[in-house]
Amino acid sequence: MIVLGIESTAHTFGCGIVSGKKGECKILANEKASFVTEEGGIHPSKAADHHFENAEEVVKRAVETAGIKSKEIEAVAFSQGPGLGPCLKVGAVTARAISLALDKPLIGVNHCIAHVEIGKALTNSKNPIVCYASGANTQIIGFENGRYRVYGETLDTGIGNLLDTYGRSQGIGFPAGPVLDEMYFKGKKLVELPYSVKGMDLVFSGLLTAAKNKAKTEKKEDMAYSLLHNAFAMLTEITERALAHTEKKEVLLTGGVAASKALQQMMTKMCEERNAECFVPERSVCVDNAAMIAWLGLVMRENKLETSLGESIVLPKQRTDDVDAVWVKYADFAK
Ligand code: FE2
Repeated sequence: MIVLGIESTAHTFGCGIVSGKKGECKILANEKASFVTEEGGIHPSKAADHHFENAEEVVKRAVETAGIKSKEIEAVAFSQGPGLGPCLKVGAVTARAISLALDKPLIGVNHCIAHVEIGKALTNSKNPIVCYASGANTQIIGFENGRYRVYGETLDTGIGNLLDTYGRSQGIGFPAGPVLDEMYFKGKKLVELPYSVKGMDLVFSGLLTAAKNKAKTEKKEDMAYSLLHNAFAMLTEITERALAHTEKKEVLLTGGVAASKALQQMMTKMCEERNAECFVPERSVCVDNAAMIAWLGLVMRENKLETSLGESIVLPKQRTDDVDAVWVKYADFAK
């Protein structure tokens, strides 16, 4: 089966095409255009204008790269939520148009679950605790009782936004994560900063304010080391607690921040100490991308799911645990 997917939750407009069956994911195309500003901030309606202007070209490029005829596409998936309303609407309208033109079913998918499913498919992890760490989202997710449950999450900003906002205050370009990650390994002193874990949830705003203040007097490498150390240790702590509570044996890191070597190192060490395995998919499928939307669409279509035009309204606040993940089979848990 070949499925085309559209991603447009935030700054990326993407079109991905995948083929495969029974968990074997083959990415035929994963094209995108990203809305980037000098300051790194995102204005929803300006990002939506960008997506609208680029949609046709990105879709054409994906079909060309995949080397397929449009009639070979068997379903059209799109990010239905969560995300920025104006951006989501461009993706939904594009997907509806393609679905109608090709007379193929439409499938609305949850963006966060798409990160999880493509990560599972490409790393061959079966039943992981997922640490989804990106600009806007930070969630610890695991499958239980028919749905992907959120065991812990940020109560304010996403961890990627924390790094970018701090980076912006220090004159580091967008995205700041890779630069801070490099500096992390040069830092020598641990500067005292807040560590805010609230039960299974995280709060980053106090850490950000304190880091900006201390950066006035401390070395930049020491600040990067201390900021990343605290933020990633907070994330690792709640991931470890979710592992302990559920007795799962795998961790899957995904989202743009999963590319951080510092985070990978910390998470891998924790997993080793618990006899668990840590999986990290390659960066192009960790960041926001449309291949993951196409892949979840394909998995849902294999399970006879589809979204009628009337149900295809965008859901900016849709939660990971709103979705019945009926496609997750008990066979997935056999190792
Ligand atoms: Fe994402």
